[in-house]
Amino acid sequence: MADNSRTVQLLAISGSLRQASSNSKLLQAAQTLAPENVTITLYQRLGDLPHFNPDDDFAQFEAVVDLRAQVAQADGLIISCPEYAHGVPGSFKNALDWLVGGPEFYEKPVAFFNASGRGAHAQASLREIVKTMSGRVIDEACLTLPFIGKQFDQVRLETDPELSTLIRSAIQTYTNKLGEDRNV
Ligand SMILES: Cc1cc2nc3c(=O)[nH]c(=O)nc-3n(C[C@H](O)[C@H](O)[C@H](O)COP(=O)(O)O)c2cc1C
Repeated sequence: MADNSRTVQLLAISGSLRQASSNSKLLQAAQTLAPENVTITLYQRLGDLPHFNPDDDFAQFEAVVDLRAQVAQADGLIISCPEYAHGVPGSFKNALDWLVGGPEFYEKPVAFFNASGRGAHAQASLREIVKTMSGRVIDEACLTLPFIGKQFDQVRLETDPELSTLIRSAIQTYTNKLGEDRNV
């Protein structure tokens, strides 16, 4: 039986720096729609991270320390990331590279949310990267909204009964899975 008594802390990371990013909006909607026992924090500092250099892996760059602390504190991550030229955007891969050498990402549960239903290359690549970093993809909690195109609209996401149910349900499934894992 899952222990749902304590608040679950999820860190949501958008792979896009774009102001009007659909991936960021999907994560914002998830934050709004999260059930009472779930707190979703939006990671906001992708653009602050220096370029990863292995020589600096033990340097104490404030933005890197903060990224690692936020990942360490989270019970699980939600990643929503676009595809650029059939790959993962460089700025997002840069963030992941800062996490390769440390303990924070090890066995961290990860759910992928996908705002567009496109970007199969990046999605496959992300899975491979997360697996290689010893993250744990929670397939049941991954969410694709294939019918959202250019007119992506956060308000519609949060108010549309079908879309909001899909998002809520993915978060609830994720939370239940984390609770089950804690009780194993
Ligand atoms: C530089 C660049 C390259 C892109 N390359 C691809 C691509 O290879 N495949 C694809 O499906 N979409 C590609 N796209 C489209 C984006 O993945 C898509 O618009 C995505 O929804 C943008 O996410 P955002 O709204 O969160 O910024 C590209 C967009 C940009 C800006």
